[in-house]
Amino acid sequence: MNIIGVESIIYGVMDLEECSRYFTDWGLIPASQDESNAVFETLEKTTVKLRKADDPSLPPQHCDTPFFKGSCGREVIWGVDTQMTLAAIGDEISKDREVTETEDGSLHAIDDAGNPIGFAITQREPVKLEHPKINTPGNYQRINESAYGAAPSLASPARIGHVVYSVAENAPEKARFYLDRLGFKLSDMIGEGGRFMRPALSQDHHNLLMESHGRGYGFQHSAYEFRDFDQVIQRGRYMEDQGWQTHIGPTRHTLGSNYSWYMWTPAGGLCELISDMDSLDDNWEPRHIDPKKAGPPHSWYARPEQIGRKFGIPHD
Ligand SMILES: [Fe+2]
Repeated sequence: MNIIGVESIIYGVMDLEECSRYFTDWGLIPASQDESNAVFETLEKTTVKLRKADDPSLPPQHCDTPFFKGSCGREVIWGVDTQMTLAAIGDEISKDREVTETEDGSLHAIDDAGNPIGFAITQREPVKLEHPKINTPGNYQRINESAYGAAPSLASPARIGHVVYSVAENAPEKARFYLDRLGFKLSDMIGEGGRFMRPALSQDHHNLLMESHGRGYGFQHSAYEFRDFDQVIQRGRYMEDQGWQTHIGPTRHTLGSNYSWYMWTPAGGLCELISDMDSLDDNWEPRHIDPKKAGPPHSWYARPEQIGRKFGIPHD
């Protein structure tokens, strides 16, 4: 199935105004807003859609985690390449579950873990961002020129990178729906409960992670990809300056390699600033990581006292 990646995330939120302020501060581009809806775009026009939590058009709420405070990600829409792919997905998943089609032609169903999902022909407009020039000893890409990151600036994220679900139990079994029915590829496994996956047309290490960690179920976080490390740091610092709270970060992951900064969101759970994730092709062999032997999930992270700020509320 020619699925490209996360097209949209639809949140049901308790405070539309506060959440709109959050995603504006996050660097998303406001596309439309009225009393009950707000839509925000990335540079590639992947979208975050906010609706009031009691909006009857929202899919059923499937969220019970320590991150949940009445607002949560209610549906993830996966972008596909053509109408033919969309029809093939409908034919496949309607074999064993209800599939509905909305006015805009998108399809909607529930995955094996109970998460509402949808599929739509992508509106994505891919961007190719200029690569930052880096100097290393003996390798000078930038001569007579200041580094991009040396100047304060705030960039918008290029796209939604990935989503993560907490699964009540047996995430590997629930992940089979994506792997066996929707053509996702397995990138890495961690322990008995974590499956990193990417759809057929993506080279990202992961666009979807399903994990069972004994802390509830449902939508856990969404990640937004920036061009580089400097953009992650400058946006994260700006978020803190606006009063939003850090969960973990800045940091760099050992699985997927991406730079990362997790922040709490009033839309429910966490949002993550990311850049420089591993890119995989069909030569990649999925690894099965034993978390007891692998060490911490971060190769490094900045301790708050090192950079003069406080951590946000711990989630457990
Ligand atoms: Fe993430």
